[in-house]
Amino acid sequence: MRKKVTVIGAGNVGANCALRIAEQELADVVLVDVVDGIPQGKGLDLLQSGPVQGYDVNVTGVNDYEATAGSDIVVITAGFPRKPGMSRDDLLLANYEVVRSATEQAVRYSPDSILIVVTNPLDAMCQTAFWVSRFSKNRVVGMAGVLDTARFRTFIAQELKVSVENVTAVVMGGHGDTMVPLVRLSNVAGIPLTELLDQGTLDRLVDRTRNGGAEIVKYLKMGSAYYAPSAATVEMVESILKDKKKVLPCAAYLEGEYGIEGLFVGVPVKLGARGVEKIYEINLTTEERTMLHKSAEAVRELVEVIRKKMGAPA
Ligand code: APR
Repeated sequence: MRKKVTVIGAGNVGANCALRIAEQELADVVLVDVVDGIPQGKGLDLLQSGPVQGYDVNVTGVNDYEATAGSDIVVITAGFPRKPGMSRDDLLLANYEVVRSATEQAVRYSPDSILIVVTNPLDAMCQTAFWVSRFSKNRVVGMAGVLDTARFRTFIAQELKVSVENVTAVVMGGHGDTMVPLVRLSNVAGIPLTELLDQGTLDRLVDRTRNGGAEIVKYLKMGSAYYAPSAATVEMVESILKDKKKVLPCAAYLEGEYGIEGLFVGVPVKLGARGVEKIYEINLTTEERTMLHKSAEAVRELVEVIRKKMGAPA
């Protein structure tokens, strides 16, 4: 049986997700967008890359959800990107409406799918998709940590002039300025980061990671990052479709883990065919735990705004 992935939002992130999924022959792809012609045109263009690139998957673009029926995974990238000077949080209510309607329609046609949420503000959009879909918590997961750690790993590798492949990094918390890059647990081929870089340098890299999205928005002026976000999303898609059980930092629904109740926050999870198959609870220092809780509180503030708007479950 061929796998099927629906990507909602045929913009920069969505189209690049579709491209990467096709190039890796992970699944047939259905691209959905509200703008007439965009998903159809991009879908056809992607399909026509197949003979050259040597991939054989079907890519279609549509404006309604009928063709998405029976998807294994639904990736939600629909929304408005962040503009310069705009925080992720400013996007909240605009993107809430988009994610709400996208989730409603997608789950009607793919009731057994796993939802990967990419739209920002990420953690609050995960909560929206979770509430609207009424899926079990393992079937709603957010893409943030894979991207944030990729940024952190890039900066560490650049600084040390070593291969990015040797760098393992841990980032937890919400996908925002309060995210928690965990220096203590990051390493280069097993060598603790703290033995390789002085505190001043570490602080600078952590800071750059926290502002990694904003740095790119500032350059692009029109819109936000999409190459690394789509790569990160497709790593999650692959782990689920192939049941690889990769341990990846993702936004997952916590019910008491780390002392956080009823909230999507970035934590290390095992990602397999059943979605979030396990949440890893790392022993944190008091300082790390305080930072994580501060980050979770920032997420909770946004979630409360949504809860009021939709009259969601308490
Ligand atoms: N249903 C389907 N598609 C929609 C809807 C909707 N209700 N509303 C908007 N869209 C589409 C837009 O038409 C556009 O094609 O979502 C697409 C978004 O694409 P871009 O503007 O290129 O934004 P992109 O860079 O892809 O970012 C999308 O991902 O990383 C996050 O912060 C980013 O929230 C943003 C999202």
